[in-house]
Amino acid sequence: MNTALHFPTRHGVLHAEDIPLSDLAQQHGTPLYVYSRAALQAAWQRYESAIAGRNALVCYGVKANSNLAVLHEFQRLGAGFDIVSGGELARVMAAGASASRIVFSGVGKQAWEIRQALTAGIKCFNVESADELTRLAAIAQEMGVRAPVSLRVNPDVDAKTHPYISTGLKDNKFGIDIRQAPALYRQAQQHPSLEIMGVDCHIGSQITEISPYLDALDKLLTLIDLLKADGITLRHLDLGGGLGIRYIDENPPHPADLLNPVFAALQQHGLDNLQLILEPGRSLVGNAGVLLTRVEYLKHTEARNFAIVDAAMNDLMRPALYEAWHDVTPVQPHADASTHTYDIVGPICESGDWLARGRSLALAQGDLLAIQSAGAYAFSMSSQYNSRPRAAEVLVDGSQSWLVRPRETIQDLYAQERIIPGPD
Ligand code: LLP
Repeated sequence: MNTALHFPTRHGVLHAEDIPLSDLAQQHGTPLYVYSRAALQAAWQRYESAIAGRNALVCYGVKANSNLAVLHEFQRLGAGFDIVSGGELARVMAAGASASRIVFSGVGKQAWEIRQALTAGIKCFNVESADELTRLAAIAQEMGVRAPVSLRVNPDVDAKTHPYISTGLKDNKFGIDIRQAPALYRQAQQHPSLEIMGVDCHIGSQITEISPYLDALDKLLTLIDLLKADGITLRHLDLGGGLGIRYIDENPPHPADLLNPVFAALQQHGLDNLQLILEPGRSLVGNAGVLLTRVEYLKHTEARNFAIVDAAMNDLMRPALYEAWHDVTPVQPHADASTHTYDIVGPICESGDWLARGRSLALAQGDLLAIQSAGAYAFSMSSQYNSRPRAAEVLVDGSQSWLVRPRETIQDLYAQERIIPGPD
């Protein structure tokens, strides 16, 4: 996806759609997350065109960016949702989602979360262990309902991505060993409170090749054949999320590059009736957002040059956690500053608090920078570490902008905390 389309430079100033980012920083302060509605729509459109005329459902992976305005936009566009907690279920329902389009993933579903999802009437639980299946069956029985289930199987394929975001290897905590799946399916089939819906896998994130998906699909198709021999038929096949985006120079596949061979394989297997589910997160939102931050100080030391900015690892933790690369673009470059190689760092008391390293930039104090590709796993992973209020979020549509989450106040930081009485 071309980010310049939704974050264009006009008259030397970086914009979000038709609004200069400098205006938004002026109005709302920094650090500030700015999202483009057109970019969300364009990313959605890529999936929509890839599934046109097919029996398929795209369930947005909520954890990537769970702001209600973003969820509502995808709901409006026709998305389902992939959730991993009771909190995410509450969010998507508040955004107007239909429960019948929600799938619930995650290795640690608690009893209250299972009850909440059964009460809502979600489409499917992606069950990740034998223990979870037992708990789910017991709760459904006690509630007098049938729980719709898929097993999330671990196909043991290498997604060829960062080890922290690879989930389909047998060393990972995710999913059920595919060799044990048939026995668990038989168990599920016999339980009156469970209704088998499908099979699920999710092999990792920021995947830039389609071969790992096709390897996983092969293994799922073999499993489906085994199940069929046992008289177990499925209604859907969920391939998870994981398609990557361009942060630097990656060339991730278009959703159609992935889906065309998938649909062909299903057809070849006589499985055209199976609904295909996908759970993309990053590829729907990653390049639809930037993080705006202002240069507080420039510090030139013997070893390195630092640009100390007002955003930090609490706002965007991907560089600290994964050494992730995010492009850094001055909002309004100026000719009078000299160019240096800078580390862009935040004010937090940790050496790991950096947003970018070794970037050649001409900077002056007070400059505004846009940290690119900050729509996914950015605000949603933010914290208040060092008692820093979480940033505000703005959604832009053409020449209009909405504050979709105000900046937290200093009061918000400790409003829920209590001082206990002294011992005397
Ligand atoms: N479905 C399941 C079961 C998942 O665990 C995930 C992401 C997704 C879907 C969405 O995957 P996506 O399409 O966004 O790759 N914080 C990391 C990424 C962690 C991904 C966790 N699971 C990062 O910032 O790179």
